[in-house]
Amino acid sequence: MDLGIKNKVALVAASSRGLGKAIAFQLSREGAKVVICARNKERLGKTRDEIAAETGGVVRAFVADVKDKKQVSKMVEQTVKELGTIEILVSNAGGPPSGTADDFTLNDYQDALELNLLSTINLCYEVIRFMKKQKWGRIINMVSVAAKQPIDSLILSNTARAGVLGFSKSLSNQVASYGITVNSICPGYTKTERVEELAKSFEESGKGTVKDFYKNIQKNIPTGRLGAPEEIAHAVAFLASEGAGYITGVALQVDGGYTKGLF
Ligand SMILES: NC(=O)c1ccc[n+]([C@@H]2O[C@H](COP(=O)([O-])OP(=O)(O)OC[C@H]3O[C@@H](n4cnc5c(N)ncnc54)[C@H](OP(=O)(O)O)[C@@H]3O)[C@@H](O)[C@H]2O)c1
Repeated sequence: MDLGIKNKVALVAASSRGLGKAIAFQLSREGAKVVICARNKERLGKTRDEIAAETGGVVRAFVADVKDKKQVSKMVEQTVKELGTIEILVSNAGGPPSGTADDFTLNDYQDALELNLLSTINLCYEVIRFMKKQKWGRIINMVSVAAKQPIDSLILSNTARAGVLGFSKSLSNQVASYGITVNSICPGYTKTERVEELAKSFEESGKGTVKDFYKNIQKNIPTGRLGAPEEIAHAVAFLASEGAGYITGVALQVDGGYTKGLF
């Protein structure tokens, strides 16, 4: 299926590994010009080279912390200078620490909101002026199933992600007449480097083996397995496509059936 995004410029935030990297890869395979970013320069450079070598596409990399407004502005400015515009935005970031109400102070909530809510709002504000001008845009905000079905041990994530859904839905209504869609993806448990690290630290803390870690998660997933990053990337690529122009304001879980509610 041709997604109709050849030569479109896609900015994929937080993308040197994990979900962001898989999304950048997929958009590049579809022929989009891809801009990636992360904080660690070395890993970012490796990812840029890996994607470009496999797809032969245009891939630019910027060292930028999505929490830093100045760095994000500079990345957007440079992208537009080099590639002309931004047509697709995938907002993404690292995840906040896990824990329950007793584990955190107001400062921790502030950090989590900056990382997972304000960074999304800022990225959207940065790109929307170009999308309005060209009367075409696709915004996909990466969230989590925790936004739809809060996870007890992730109070910071539950709080910040719900905010992203509210923002995305409001924004989608306010920019729809410009040909811009705004949707959110709520990934369920997906086997990225981060989850592999969590499995290792579970074993190191003596709570059980790596196998136990995955078994505990898998028992709540109807498909009986974790997702692959590529499976999230395919959903993002579809929402970025020309054909998805009538889908907006949606929060789509890609979770092997993990979410138990109807919506
Ligand atoms: N994997 C899952 O099962 C799952 C499920 C639901 C939701 N999520 C959420 O989806 C997001 C991505 O998860 P993941 O598993 O792909 O994580 P990951 O494997 O840890 O990858 C995170 C990526 O984001 C970059 N990054 C982190 N913080 C950043 C920042 N402040 N500014 C710029 N780049 C940043 C990292 O590079 P640097 O460290 O070099 O910056 C890395 O490239 C997280 O918010 C996570 O909570 C994941």
